[in-house]
Amino acid sequence: MTGKILVLPGDGIGPEIVTEAEKVIQALIGRHGLKVEIEHGLIGGSAVDATGKPLPDETLEKARASNAVLLGAVGGPKWETIERTIRPERGLLAIRAGMGLYANLRPALLYDALAGASTLKPEVVADLDIMIVRELTGGIYFGEPRGIRNTANGHREGYNTLVYNETEIQRIAEMAFKVAQKRAGRVCSVDKANVLEATELWREVVTEVASGYPDVSLQHMYVDNAAMQLVRDPKQFDVIVTTNMFGDILSDLASMLTGSIGMLPSASINQSGQGLYEPIHGSAPDIAGQNKANPLATILSVAMLLRYSLNEETQARRVESAVQQVLTNGLRTADIYSKGTQIVSTAEMGDAVITALNEC
Ligand code: IPM
Ligand code: MG
Repeated sequence: MTGKILVLPGDGIGPEIVTEAEKVIQALIGRHGLKVEIEHGLIGGSAVDATGKPLPDETLEKARASNAVLLGAVGGPKWETIERTIRPERGLLAIRAGMGLYANLRPALLYDALAGASTLKPEVVADLDIMIVRELTGGIYFGEPRGIRNTANGHREGYNTLVYNETEIQRIAEMAFKVAQKRAGRVCSVDKANVLEATELWREVVTEVASGYPDVSLQHMYVDNAAMQLVRDPKQFDVIVTTNMFGDILSDLASMLTGSIGMLPSASINQSGQGLYEPIHGSAPDIAGQNKANPLATILSVAMLLRYSLNEETQARRVESAVQQVLTNGLRTADIYSKGTQIVSTAEMGDAVITALNEC
């Protein structure tokens, strides 16, 4: 089967890191028999500049016709003050909603070679391997009504709605249990059921779904406690399943356990197996265009794309081993640099991964 990949570089460092990831895909096509077609499209601020919209209709149509989308990052100071409904981040939310990408998988994996890069003690994070399963198309990110209004007494009031229906909770819970079956078999569901009714239902439904997975253990945790436990003893976790907003926050927290947010990929998957793959870091406008950014999270997103949307497990492992090899060889971009290692540019890092890939 020839897969179709839509590449959306986006803004800031997006184009630079995506260029390296595309080089990796081309190397797999040229040297390892991967069969895919690549197309390009616009999203985010660069799409606003070109078309007036953060997600042009053409991009969504192309995305829906692809097996997978590879995205760089969106946003930047240039677009922070434009009208709220056309800000770059809205483009990202619109493509998640438009493709029905309800399940966001965010691994926090510590590479041996980077154990020293974490701000936590090495023994706390050694061998860390957590998978956060974040609900991505519901909750307070999408709930209506929402907005900023004027109240009767002349003050402004901002409001959002946290809403989850049973079906949304069921399907993300199913995903988490399935993921756990292929890992250590433990799910921790994170909520705020002591205060928020929407997550009281979350807890109930996750518990119901658990009965269909007797081989997986289920634990519930309040989000405040989960944040504390992630820093205190992160290795207690295997799979964490949580709401859209809690997952947003906890995944940034978990990424730092591994030393750099520049290392972590993510997959956002819909019910037909299509996916959008992106690094979890943002567009880093402060270093954009300087050939400094770490392309490894995007390259590792290619590995997830191969695994989850193209069913190319061997190719996925090849990419992951190549990244591992490059780190073992001591190459580092600035964000993961430590004494005794060699600092390289974005492009040099990409080239090193390709060299390692061709040796695998
Ligand atoms: C993420 C980002 C996005 C989110 C922003 C850019 C809308 O922080 O993917 O984690 O909040 O989901
Ligand atoms: Mg985030």
